[in-house]
Amino acid sequence: MDSWETALCVFFASFLATVFGGLYAVGAFRKRKPKEPPLDKGFIPWLGHAIKFKKQPVEFLECMQKKHGDIFTVLVGGNYLHFVLDPCTYRDIIKKSKDKLDFDTFGFKIVFNAFRFHASETHHKIVQQNSKKYLRGKSLAALNQVMMEKLKTVMLYSCDSGENKRQWQQDGVLHFSYNTIFQAAYLALFGTDPDKDVESERNAKENKLTQRGDFFGNFQKFDHLFPQMVFGILNPQGKMETERLRKFLWDILSVEKIYQKDNISNWIVEQDQQMAEIGMTEKMRTQFMFLLLWASQANTGPAAFWVLVHLLKYPEAMKAVWEEVDRVLRETGQEVNPGSPIIDVSLETIKTPLLDSTIEETLRLKANPFLFRSVMQDTDLKMADGREYILRKGDHLLLFPFLGLHMDPEIHPDPHTFKYDRFLNPDGTKREFYKNGKKLKQYTMPFGGGPSICPGRFFAVSELKMFVILMLTCFDMELVNAEEEIPPVDGSRCGFGIVHPSRDIQFRYRLRS
Ligand code: HEM
Repeated sequence: MDSWETALCVFFASFLATVFGGLYAVGAFRKRKPKEPPLDKGFIPWLGHAIKFKKQPVEFLECMQKKHGDIFTVLVGGNYLHFVLDPCTYRDIIKKSKDKLDFDTFGFKIVFNAFRFHASETHHKIVQQNSKKYLRGKSLAALNQVMMEKLKTVMLYSCDSGENKRQWQQDGVLHFSYNTIFQAAYLALFGTDPDKDVESERNAKENKLTQRGDFFGNFQKFDHLFPQMVFGILNPQGKMETERLRKFLWDILSVEKIYQKDNISNWIVEQDQQMAEIGMTEKMRTQFMFLLLWASQANTGPAAFWVLVHLLKYPEAMKAVWEEVDRVLRETGQEVNPGSPIIDVSLETIKTPLLDSTIEETLRLKANPFLFRSVMQDTDLKMADGREYILRKGDHLLLFPFLGLHMDPEIHPDPHTFKYDRFLNPDGTKREFYKNGKKLKQYTMPFGGGPSICPGRFFAVSELKMFVILMLTCFDMELVNAEEEIPPVDGSRCGFGIVHPSRDIQFRYRLRS
């Protein structure tokens, strides 16, 4: 062979190697092995179904469910994602050991992308242990009391000044609900500024939160960019904006500034002190403070919006919940009358099954987190009906209880409809839910499940209950346009917890007369 022929052969060989190597790397040759779930790679190498999945995740997964059933694997941006939609299998998956299905690997990546915080298992344990200690039982009851006071202060803030007292005020339901919960929970968890010149905290207008610039507005802007941060798809302008927002929020939440405050919750103080003990710098502790602020706020405000908007839109639900709240308050010796003092009630002493059901129903409809696990080694998976699969090492497993559980018509008939009393029997006892004739232990999973379940879930539900009780007892309220439909959800937030509405909806409120 001539030397030019040899050179040509070498060129073709390396060209083919590059092409095939590239195709191999983008997964073009991946075949479904025996016992693996049905594989759907789409038509575009590497990207696979990324575009559809990002644009309309729920619709895309519904379509895949129809095509492949309750377990399948899809290629999305170079990743092989296994989806399991059978809720009866969730418990087994969630119980699998971390060396098989790990929830930290992806979680830590998200935390770094959004908060620039390098999380580790030690940090995760600190969060879990302190949340168990301070967001449950007696500590939770004490925190609820503080939260109740802060909610009252923030809610009445806009109506407090003499002449305005009984006038209608107008706001967006989302803006009002999110802002109210945000300000109140911030004060309850992160403490209040010392204000020595005034006797009463309320008179000090809760330290005039607005003095800190637009704290809430900037938090919302950050939160709006959150999905893009997580996926690492911010454009240059978005990158600059998130840097600016991080700096603004880090400044407010700097360890130095936080410790100048009074009444910081034990949940915050102990976590921070333990972080300091394991040698974290002040900068990292501040980044961690911001992570705690986001985790404790980003879902509760939008959830409060959906609860309130459903009550405003469904008079039957509003009437039932109102009558229940009125009755339990009378049982505690309080009446909701014009001019009577703002109610004082501790959640631990009252039973509100209809309100509880309304909140659970709202979370069923609007909480759609992806529960993410990284497959650390080839892992056997046995479905509840006995089918057996193998998940391949290096892939990812996603549970999507919204589709597999919340929207399953066998479990929740007429699943898209808001039914405030869905979780109660006609006699007021709790309903049971079944799938394939089997009673389900978990029939909604708005807070995730297993070792990574939301540690703030009990406080979150308390916040929502207190918010509704105070809204009903403090204010008359109505939608500005009673005919206006509840806004559709903003699809870009799917998978991150509580979805947001694609727009706000206006309402009027005034102190009860
Ligand atoms: C309606 C309100 C809320 C919803 C729907 C919600 C939902 C969730 C979900 C789905 C997760 C991830 C679970 C998983 O991956 O399995 C999570 C994590 C977390 N949530 Fe919540 N949450 C809410 C309110 C709160 C509140 C009020 C707090 C604290 C006061 C809180 C603190 C946290 C923390 C610290 C984590 C991370 C836990 C970890 O890394 O193990 N959440 N939440």
